[in-house]
Amino acid sequence: MLNGRKIVVGVTGGIASYKSIEIVSRLKKAGASVRVIMTESATKFVTPLPFREISGGPVVTSMWGEPTNWNIEHIALANWADLFLIAPATANIIGKIANGIADDMLSTTIMATKAPVVLAPAMNSNMYANPIVKQNIQKLTNLGYSFIQPSYGMLACGVEGQGRLPDPVFIIDTLASLYGKTNVLCGKKVVITAGGTREPIDPVRYIGNRSSGKMGYAIADQAAKMGAQVVLISGPSNLSIPNGVELIKVETALQMKDIVLSQFSDADIVIKAAAVADYRVQNAANHKIKKSEDTLTLILEKNPDILLELGKRKTHQFLVGFAAETQNLLSNATEKLTRKNLDMIVANDVSLPGAGFNTDTNIVKLLYRTGQTEELPQMSKTSLAKIILDKISAQIQK
Ligand code: PMT
Repeated sequence: MLNGRKIVVGVTGGIASYKSIEIVSRLKKAGASVRVIMTESATKFVTPLPFREISGGPVVTSMWGEPTNWNIEHIALANWADLFLIAPATANIIGKIANGIADDMLSTTIMATKAPVVLAPAMNSNMYANPIVKQNIQKLTNLGYSFIQPSYGMLACGVEGQGRLPDPVFIIDTLASLYGKTNVLCGKKVVITAGGTREPIDPVRYIGNRSSGKMGYAIADQAAKMGAQVVLISGPSNLSIPNGVELIKVETALQMKDIVLSQFSDADIVIKAAAVADYRVQNAANHKIKKSEDTLTLILEKNPDILLELGKRKTHQFLVGFAAETQNLLSNATEKLTRKNLDMIVANDVSLPGAGFNTDTNIVKLLYRTGQTEELPQMSKTSLAKIILDKISAQIQK
């Protein structure tokens, strides 16, 4: 469950702040290590004392107090946490995070963390229904923050509506199902490649492909939510970095190869969703090519096949490739699975509408080294990412 998790609980100022004491207590009972950050307004509703006693650690309430250790405190807590919970989360903290405001210890630490952040909003129902609050929640959801919806019921202001902080038991159960250690991927190092590479022709031009990074980023996002330590190695992409993910940007296939190999030895799982250029320009120019001639000849030389190399070096790693095909999907994918020594390959026919490059959905078949094949219907890349990771989890548990 949450045993062994390092959780920072952020408490903001609302009538439900007192419920956070029970949340901290239940997290401790579940075996998590807990640190508490309270905003100044939270301290008007409840004092730091019960949090200190129950969490067994200092409660941080200000940016300006004497530091309790050598590290810069908001960075130390941001790095220490493998999960953040803000409960209750007021409209104010949601608005601050959504708009990049970091003016106190909680908002600053949230800004600095790479850990997944879960917010449990609690406020007056009209505030919760306010379009600005809704917009902020939507914006944060799009950025990968998770929300536990407030419950309906009688609110402190005397009206009935949606705005109550859910029962602490429900909050703990939700956290456990999202980030519980029973999850096979928890703590595993998952290396994911995404996007397309760019092979320079001259300083201003390149040979590229249509990969947006959506497939690989969705897998990285989901793997982080499942508690994995995720390294995302990405070619150029406009997508935002998923929460809790270490992003390493590359441009060319050779750069991707160097980084992937450097991350390989201690990886548990490698998923290669990137569209890597098979060829690079041998005679790339150092200066911008002038259009003086009628024709221009580019000589292309073969790039190394990174996945093939990983297949040769594989010791304990679970290796997953993608196959982007426009014909003979199954036979081509099976050939790649065998030749590259993979455990699984995700075969997508990229000529189908709603599949492959730069789409929000994909249509794939999963092929395993055992010879088993599973056909999946069209679905969002987010849903597919979850299925791929669940299938991998089931395989590595065998
Ligand atoms: O990024 P999106 O817009 O969401 O698009 C997703 C996708 C279509 C790019 C993705 O679903 C996909 O199919 N990725 C693999 C693309 C590809 O290069 O397929 P391939 O069949 O050419 O290569 C097979 C495998 O070998 C891939 O895992 C690839 O990463 C790897 N490879 C290929 C060439 C090379 N030089 N080195 C490699 O490691």
